[in-house]
Amino acid sequence: MTSPTDLLDLAIEIAREAGELARRRRTEGVAIAATKSALADIVTEADREVEDFIRARLVAERPADGFLGEESGAERGTSEITWVVDPIDGTVNYAYGIPAYAVSIAAVTGEPDPQQWTAQAAAVFNPAVGELFQAARDAGAWLGGQRLAVNAEPSVAGALLATGFGYDPATHAGDLARVARVMPLARDLRRIGAASLDLAYVAAGRLDGYFERGLQPWDHAAGALLVTEAGGVVGGAPGGRPGREMTIACGPALFDALTAAATGV
Ligand code: IPD
Ligand code: CA
Repeated sequence: MTSPTDLLDLAIEIAREAGELARRRRTEGVAIAATKSALADIVTEADREVEDFIRARLVAERPADGFLGEESGAERGTSEITWVVDPIDGTVNYAYGIPAYAVSIAAVTGEPDPQQWTAQAAAVFNPAVGELFQAARDAGAWLGGQRLAVNAEPSVAGALLATGFGYDPATHAGDLARVARVMPLARDLRRIGAASLDLAYVAAGRLDGYFERGLQPWDHAAGALLVTEAGGVVGGAPGGRPGREMTIACGPALFDALTAAATGV
């Protein structure tokens, strides 16, 4: 199998190129192409163009690999690798001009299902600020030359947490009830608007923890590897792996309490 670091080199190269394309398109103006699962769930022309670009680059470099992307769906490969891609995570930020969006690219092995896969390499690039977070399995998580480490313990003031809310208004009451349960652990709560950056920030110690219901595989594939390679823990429902039902990421000391509060179990 190709080594995780070789997969990472390709993920970084393509994430940088794709991010530059997204950033350039942003300066030219953003057109909403369609709404998806709910009125608030938008896709811009840039989301589609950037995913097409990433997919074409991967096909050219590694034609045997599988692909799972937000905008263009899944295709099984004949190698053991699947690339899991969100071309623009934080599309609403992108559309509004908030500089918190990212290209998220992960290479995974095993079934292309977050309940089963093993992440090998991850690149999360925010072109608006030029930050590229990267990780390869067993080789650590990095931001440029700086090795990342999650915060060992929240401060005495409580944990700086982040979350997100589903696009479907029917999910909002449940999300707000979850926030009410979690707030006793928190010094404050952020809603950054891009799950890949939430996870990257946990890896970097900029957040103590993150929780969200309703994530899709491409939202957390790369970010979850950043967190685990930075010494953190990523889970889902109690005892489970991250997925649509729940995604929780933080340092080991906070994990049980945050899981209990976020899931209500
Ligand atoms: C969304 C963002 C957001 C999260 C949503 C995701 P998108 O991804 O990551 O922060 O709350 O659950 O769907 O639609 O911007 O790629
Ligand atoms: Ca997206």
